[in-house]
Amino acid sequence: MTASPKSNTANQMWGGRFAEGPDAIMTAINASIGFDRRLYAQDIAGSRAHAAMLAATGILSSSDAEAIGEGLLTVLSEIEAGNFNFRIDLEDIHMNVEARLRDLIGPTAGRLHTARSRNDQVAVDFRLWVRDQCDAAINGLTALMQAFVGQAEAGADWVMPGFTHLQTAQPVTWGHHMMAYVEMFARDRARFEDARRRMNECPLGAAALAGTSFPIDRHATAKALGFDRPTANSLDSVSDRDFALEFLSASSICAMHLSRFAEELVIWSSAQFRFVRLSDKWTTGSSIMPQKKNPDAAELLRAKIGRILGATVALFTVMKGLPLTYSKDMQEDKEQVFDAADTLMLGLAAMTGMVSDMTANRDSLAASASSGFSTATDLADWLVRELGLPFREAHHVTGTLVAMAEASARDLPDLTLDEMKSVHDGIRPDVFDVLGVENSIRSRVSYGGTAPEQVRAQVARWKNLLGLD
Ligand code: ARG
Repeated sequence: MTASPKSNTANQMWGGRFAEGPDAIMTAINASIGFDRRLYAQDIAGSRAHAAMLAATGILSSSDAEAIGEGLLTVLSEIEAGNFNFRIDLEDIHMNVEARLRDLIGPTAGRLHTARSRNDQVAVDFRLWVRDQCDAAINGLTALMQAFVGQAEAGADWVMPGFTHLQTAQPVTWGHHMMAYVEMFARDRARFEDARRRMNECPLGAAALAGTSFPIDRHATAKALGFDRPTANSLDSVSDRDFALEFLSASSICAMHLSRFAEELVIWSSAQFRFVRLSDKWTTGSSIMPQKKNPDAAELLRAKIGRILGATVALFTVMKGLPLTYSKDMQEDKEQVFDAADTLMLGLAAMTGMVSDMTANRDSLAASASSGFSTATDLADWLVRELGLPFREAHHVTGTLVAMAEASARDLPDLTLDEMKSVHDGIRPDVFDVLGVENSIRSRVSYGGTAPEQVRAQVARWKNLLGLD
């Protein structure tokens, strides 16, 4: 390695001005190589695009650019083969790669940094990485939605209790409940698609903050790296981490959705509910209680939101109040995003597995659907429709009948016609038609309602959108 002209302990990248090297603790707090090594592929891709552009614009000779390009490929293969010595004294991935390039091709390596700064370099590397994670989230969400659609299709007309306040409200269908999650995860997917579109502008060429006096071609590097266009303001380019915040925000909402279904799985798989059976693949046993099958994966998914939302709050806190443009504070962006992305992808895969493998207990669902006076609303609606009662009065009559049934530990269909007539003498025998859960779900035919025909229409729509038919 080339020694710095002034001192061999000072940094080789800026040793000209420095007589001494950093304190060991300074090295420890300053270095990011421990985590930003994950950006190596993006860093090398960015450098290769930059070098090719420097040659195309005549800023660099084509032989130098070629040596740099090939050297970078060697560095890439060394890292991928696990033969790369990451050095903490070289601080970050950018300087580790460049220093190794210098070992390989000599001082020509120093020409790569023409018309560039680590500020635009890290901005482009990190955008490329987050962009890939958006794609991974979009794919993971698609697979999860497909799993929910599969469950919905199988049980489009299976009755189950619908809840508000976790109290039995009205009968719904299993398929309808599954499709609710398809809608939620579809919004998540759209958020990642939207964020990806917005982040797909290339900051490379903003240089340190003000642009450069070299005749660079930012459109060429943007195109080479798959961006839609270069960013339009150099100051914004190096100080913006909105793309990371948007990714984290979308991840947080998605993790919140995962936690909600995770909670339902925990409840539903309990001996008290028995709505679903989770497969052995997604549960654990107890070392002391042989009967147990614990929904650990679901419980962990219920908890993972804490990490992802924590990362989101952490990065918002880092960015809040930072003056333009780049500040070293921003180096704190990466670990948060790395951890949140890893957590989200693992969570999506685990939930997809659980949903695909779970078995709904149709009998338990049906038995539970018909208890808890779940058709009380149907009775009230019948009183309005058939007897012309104002809804408030119908509600009152129904409430009286529910109290009567409850007092004798019966359900609404178990009351006799005479008992009903004692509350409202207009009630006729055909009232019993609406007190069964099957009739109840079949009657909810409004658009987006729980009737099997509505559910099947939504299943068909989503199968088409998800490429399942
Ligand atoms: N490691 C730095 C980061 O992650 C790279 C950019 C450093 N730029 C600088 N001017 N020190 O943000």
